[in-house]
Amino acid sequence: MKVLLTGANGQLGQALQKNVPKGIELVTRNRSQLDLANFDACQAAVHEERPDWVLNAGAYTSVDQAESEPELAHAVNAGAPAAFAKALKIEGGRLLQISTDFVFNGRQSSPYRPDQQPDPLGVYGASKAAGERAIREVFADDPSALILRTSWVIGPVGQNFALTMLSLHQQQKLLKVVSDQVGCPSSSLNLATACWQSIQRSADGTVLPPVMHWSDAGSTNWYQLAVAIGQIGQELGLIETPAQVQPITTADYPTPATRPSYSLLDCTSTRSALHLEGEHWESALRTLLQHVQLA
Ligand SMILES: NC(=O)c1ccc[n+]([C@@H]2O[C@H](COP(=O)([O-])OP(=O)(O)OC[C@H]3O[C@@H](n4cnc5c(N)ncnc54)[C@H](OP(=O)(O)O)[C@@H]3O)[C@@H](O)[C@H]2O)c1
Repeated sequence: MKVLLTGANGQLGQALQKNVPKGIELVTRNRSQLDLANFDACQAAVHEERPDWVLNAGAYTSVDQAESEPELAHAVNAGAPAAFAKALKIEGGRLLQISTDFVFNGRQSSPYRPDQQPDPLGVYGASKAAGERAIREVFADDPSALILRTSWVIGPVGQNFALTMLSLHQQQKLLKVVSDQVGCPSSSLNLATACWQSIQRSADGTVLPPVMHWSDAGSTNWYQLAVAIGQIGQELGLIETPAQVQPITTADYPTPATRPSYSLLDCTSTRSALHLEGEHWESALRTLLQHVQLA
């Protein structure tokens, strides 16, 4: 089975390449090999490679910068999935699109179910929601195209909150971190497993839900996560002494893009469909920090 992976140098892209199941021929594209903002190039990649699956892990992920670059964010996050969907429909291939908790407005207080309607707050979320819509316009409810939404991706490589906090714990004595945004991290390692499982179970003939949700298990906020990163980082010898962490509010830390104040994803149906347990985020955090290689 041939899988064309985009975003090969991203944190999920790298986790996927570390963990390729047997029987999968992986063809990768990084930014220099395929510009996801180039609709025609995305279609051409599918027609050239004729993969059984496109795993679209590439995305414009700079949430704040997207507010001032909406056209580029939409070209990458909506244009590329549309191009892949159209070309795959012609070639008879399948699509696994990674999407985000930012498609929701965060105004509810119970976990978002996969069947809930997106209502994004900012450009990034709107561009990802437009990507989802573009796929469904081509594939409707056909599970040949799967959308897997995830949240707060952190991992042992790449740009993410865990690695940023780890180095801030090392450099500073006091960290002020937002405590009024609730969600759950997704280890890139566990997310990669969920992606491969989605493809493998589909190949075995299982019909998966067209929209799925994946994060690690439990619930937290950025402040608690920053505290845990310091504690576990110290236990693992990655830092000497963790910084003191002070909780602040979102209002104390203004950003160009508005974040959802609540973005827990209900992963129940996805875990059951994929036959995967959710690992508690603290345990998943420990595992990914164990994989961090210090410079
Ligand atoms: N990070 C999160 O917290 C989070 C949360 C929810 C959902 N997601 C979703 O999860 C998926 C994986 O995200 P991630 O965390 O792995 O993000 P990431 O580390 O930022 O990786 C994104 C990849 O996309 C590539 N890319 C960006 N613009 C491109 C372009 N125009 N052409 C080609 N490649 C381009 C980047 O290339 P370079 O390496 O060259 O920059 C990078 O390798 C994405 O769909 C994202 O929307 C992420």
